[in-house]
Amino acid sequence: MEFTFIAPSKTIYKTGALDAIGKHIEGIGSRFLIVIDPVFEKNGTLSKLEKQLDALGIAHTSYLGVVGEPDVSNVDEASAQAIEFGCDVVMSVGGGSVLDVGKASAGVITNGTPVKDYLEYVGTGRKVVNPPLPFIAVPTTAGTGAEVTKLAVIGSKKEHFKRSMRDDQLIANLCIIDPRLCVSAPPKVTAITGIDAMTHCMESYATWKATPITKPLSLRGIELAGRYLKRAYDNGEDIEAREGMSLAAYMGGLAFSNSGNGAAHGLGMALNVYFPIPHGLGVGITLPYVMEINAEEDPTLYDPVGEVLLRKRFNTPGDGTKAAIEFIRELNAHIGIPADIKWLGASAEMARTMGEKCFGNSMSCNPVQLEAQKWGALFERLR
Ligand SMILES: [Fe+2]
Repeated sequence: MEFTFIAPSKTIYKTGALDAIGKHIEGIGSRFLIVIDPVFEKNGTLSKLEKQLDALGIAHTSYLGVVGEPDVSNVDEASAQAIEFGCDVVMSVGGGSVLDVGKASAGVITNGTPVKDYLEYVGTGRKVVNPPLPFIAVPTTAGTGAEVTKLAVIGSKKEHFKRSMRDDQLIANLCIIDPRLCVSAPPKVTAITGIDAMTHCMESYATWKATPITKPLSLRGIELAGRYLKRAYDNGEDIEAREGMSLAAYMGGLAFSNSGNGAAHGLGMALNVYFPIPHGLGVGITLPYVMEINAEEDPTLYDPVGEVLLRKRFNTPGDGTKAAIEFIRELNAHIGIPADIKWLGASAEMARTMGEKCFGNSMSCNPVQLEAQKWGALFERLR
């Protein structure tokens, strides 16, 4: 057996952690770049954070430019701001986009702009040679797992690409998970990020690259997301549900960043070739179909998953797998994830092309490998 496991150096999981963040960040540095979602400036979270930094004598400058998907311009701007201010720490407070901009900036600040140089396929092959600035990740949604991964996905609205900057050194030095921060997420965001978390757990569970460390994380994450996603969607103030989902997202992130994802991620990314739908929506729509395809090859693949989701034992092999697939379909229906892509209006030509474009890291981790034509046929069925 052989595997590698990589994780943030330190994680603090505590409801209300942000209210007393001082004791966790003292000594890391003296000049902070705070990359933060503008929502948290409006609701007063940023000023509370700034007061705590002031009390510690930490100077700070904030970058509030990330709106929607993370863009190369965000990383280049934030890095320039940090260099001018003489920052020695980067802290991100926000969803996956904000975390990724901060993560990439921490690497670019010490290695030089522009960030595009470091991106896979579209860059110049430039590497992170100098150690990045210490990076503190504070997620405010439960889903993307960006707080634990060693890559930042950055796009360009101008040049129409979305690519990864990937390096072991980019992984956060400190991850602070405060489930209370997720309370501000509206139901739609809770649904889309939450099903992304569930998909990370499910795909990292089923992949042939799962390890003895990741598999239990995946299964426990599935159980938590199964129990709490509907509750968090129905009532955003349900703090127990937010705590459960934050934990599920963290476990799923740790699992998939060490074992890979699967075909729902490959197919979800292919949908983004034509349709700028949120990442979680694409993977959530395709997840039950991918589970079905995987189960055709191995009818008992998800039996333990069915048992933790339904909280019962199944006597007949395969029944747990069928129950797991049905559970995901019902979960999707409850939280408003569509059962197909009819509403997108994809053409037959698009379905065929998406079948070709779904290949990459995630697809290669899927337990079942199909030809492009077969994945294209799935898109054809869904459109
Ligand atoms: Fe994902």
